[in-house]
Amino acid sequence: MDPDTVTGRVEFAGVSFRYRRDEPLIENLSLTVHPGQTVAIVGPTGAGKTTLVNLLLRFYDLDAGTITVDGTDIAEMSRHGLRRNIGMVLQDTWLFGGTIAENIAYGKPDATREDIVTAAQATHADHLIRTLPDGYDTVVEEDGTLSAGERQLVTIARAFLVRPAILVLDEATSSVDTRTEMLVQRAMSSLRQGRTSFVIAHRLSTIRDADLILVMEAGRIVEQGSHDDLLDAGGAYARLYAAQFAQPATA
Ligand SMILES: Nc1ncnc2c1ncn2[C@@H]1O[C@H](COP(=O)(O)OP(=O)(O)OP(=O)(O)O)[C@@H](O)[C@H]1O
Ligand SMILES: [Mg+2]
Repeated sequence: MDPDTVTGRVEFAGVSFRYRRDEPLIENLSLTVHPGQTVAIVGPTGAGKTTLVNLLLRFYDLDAGTITVDGTDIAEMSRHGLRRNIGMVLQDTWLFGGTIAENIAYGKPDATREDIVTAAQATHADHLIRTLPDGYDTVVEEDGTLSAGERQLVTIARAFLVRPAILVLDEATSSVDTRTEMLVQRAMSSLRQGRTSFVIAHRLSTIRDADLILVMEAGRIVEQGSHDDLLDAGGAYARLYAAQFAQPATA
């Protein structure tokens, strides 16, 4: 699949998957995501959120059903061909020992300095990078020259540079200071613009803004819809919301 022409339509049809023969997990799951939509996946620990995105990335083969991207079965694509079209920002951000510019260019080694700066600007990381001692040439260590939030910004710029049609975002739960948190949220939202995005979401703002919320429990999608619809429905999402997000009213 040519990354320049992929639109990012993703369809799960009758997907079943289990890690262990005697422990069913995902059973007959179907889902259609239109190009450019943001899908927020929520649910308790062990529900299968990470598994769902791992299946899209073809880390495992399905026991039944198909997953297609723009109508092509991912089982018939090479893993490399598939993953070229999917950008990832995972919880454990990793930077390698090298400059910030090299870290941003990781997925596109032939990127020019201008490409790198454009990606950083688009994801609101540019300003922060320029305040570092050597700007884009600042050498970062794996051990943490940068704060957790700053590392997230660099990995978001990295994903932006590749301009994939599909994104997988596993929102970090690690606490960062309020200002960096705001930058990360804005960066994530720029990154999602115009791309089909699967977000394992922990932030209420992301979930609220999603086109589609999937509520997973024990490997199944027990509810799907928008924030307002699901709150009105008064089911699993409403309970999750009450437990995790609803704040006591303040004056
Ligand atoms: N590699 C694996 N081998 C065997 N079982 C696994 C493996 N990865 C996950 N599981 C099991 O599959 C189920 C779903 O796990 P998954 O990681 O998809 O949940 P999750 O919704 O992402 O949870 P969390 O919110 O804790 O990240 C769990 O019961 C988990 O123990
Ligand atoms: Mg998970």
